[in-house]
Amino acid sequence: MNAINSEIDAVGIVLAAGRGSRMRSRVPKPLHTLAGRELIRYPIATLHECGIRRVVVVSSPDNRDAIAGILGDQVTYAIQTEPEGTADAVECGIRALPGVSSLVVVLAADTPLVRPESILGLMESHRAGSKRRMTILSAPGAFGPDLGHIKRTDRHYPGGLGDLVAIQEAADRDEPDNGLAEVNTGVYCFDGSWLEKSVKMAPASASGERYLTALASMAVDAGDAVEAAPIALADEAMGVNDREQLAAAGAVIRDRINRSWMSAGVTLVDPATTYIDVDVAIGQDTVLQPNTMLTGGTKIGEECEIGPNTGIRDSAIGDRCRIVASTIEEARVEDDVEIGPYSHLRPAAWIEAGVHLGNYVEVKNSRVGSGTAAGHFCYLGDADIGAGVNIGAGTITCNYDGVDKHQTVIGSSAFIGSDTMLIAPVTVGEGAATGAGAVVTRDVPEGRRAVGVPARLLPK
Ligand code: UD1
Ligand code: MG
Repeated sequence: MNAINSEIDAVGIVLAAGRGSRMRSRVPKPLHTLAGRELIRYPIATLHECGIRRVVVVSSPDNRDAIAGILGDQVTYAIQTEPEGTADAVECGIRALPGVSSLVVVLAADTPLVRPESILGLMESHRAGSKRRMTILSAPGAFGPDLGHIKRTDRHYPGGLGDLVAIQEAADRDEPDNGLAEVNTGVYCFDGSWLEKSVKMAPASASGERYLTALASMAVDAGDAVEAAPIALADEAMGVNDREQLAAAGAVIRDRINRSWMSAGVTLVDPATTYIDVDVAIGQDTVLQPNTMLTGGTKIGEECEIGPNTGIRDSAIGDRCRIVASTIEEARVEDDVEIGPYSHLRPAAWIEAGVHLGNYVEVKNSRVGSGTAAGHFCYLGDADIGAGVNIGAGTITCNYDGVDKHQTVIGSSAFIGSDTMLIAPVTVGEGAATGAGAVVTRDVPEGRRAVGVPARLLPK
């Protein structure tokens, strides 16, 4: 998505220093992935899309390096030495922004579904309020059992809600959640100077942690203005605290991604079994058959047919390609290529235009020149293959001698007979041919034929 706004006068604080203990993982929670992106990248991308460029990430001493490895210098870092609660985390963040007078938007690293539109709406609502100190992005309670609830007075204005009095955390509730509450999404907009002064005063809760949510009742008690602004879509509030919520958030994001590709002119025959990572790009009139996974930074051209049962990761595919029941990883495929079923392109496979790779063809770190055909089960590794070559069934580039890998070179228009073993390093010249079952241990010059085991050249 393009930036909705150019740079605006607000800063962001992203909280990522919690223990994340409910994940039961060795991997820090902000590093778990959703649709191919680490959780921590979602709030950063969202803030950037809102035009908020100055962002502080509050991390723990344990996850700081891992997070910095992902975000680099897009953000600045603050360390919270002990996870003493969200108020303490914000206090750490604001120390990196001394004397901040602009608006401060606070987001958690574990609510990846919040959209930029919602944050812009939150800021607008904050600015519209008179002397507003704190505005909370709230949502209807569908996903609320472990979220904080917004508490209001019973007094109802005509067509409106009672006055906000507090945010009540799940641990402090007696009554069971009935799914009707107004919940705290964990996204807030603050008046910067008020936040800097007030967050220090947030008291310890019964659990010992200092909750950021306590600032709501503190503001109310002091006569300061605080309000909640409702979010457009309830599922934006989904937090990721455990693996079940990770899967649930994944389903929502997948649905959003699938819909956006369908509206961009891509056919998804069965969206329920189509998995597209957030950073993938797909051209118009491409058809994705069931059980297709496009992951990482994969780019697919126009008018392709992909699947069924195909996985493509971090690869670039040209226009009008047809790929059936195959696996493609870190490969480059040009236009008008046919692959599969059951073929495997491994890293640094480069398939030029018009190539046909049929069933059970494995290609690794090799160029396959335009118009070349390898129709049936073969292994092409560390090879440079020219244009218009015919590669017979069962051909193998024997690239590994047990110690080192070696290159095979096949010139354009060569004919490689079925079951040829090419013992690398070896070169088969342009227009040369090998007989069925040949074991080629020495170079075959241009235009010559080699047959037998070990292969010998036939007279001219
Ligand atoms: C929090 C809110 C809750 C809200 C929910 C929305 C509080 C007390 N509660 O609950 O009202 O409905 O988010 O998802 O704020 N973190 C730190 N340092 C800490 C503790 C937490 O950086 O000491 C970070 C975590 O890494 C996480 C975020 O703050 O990214 C929220 O913490 P978490 O423990 O997930 O709070 P929730 O129980 O989800
Ligand atoms: Mg949470």
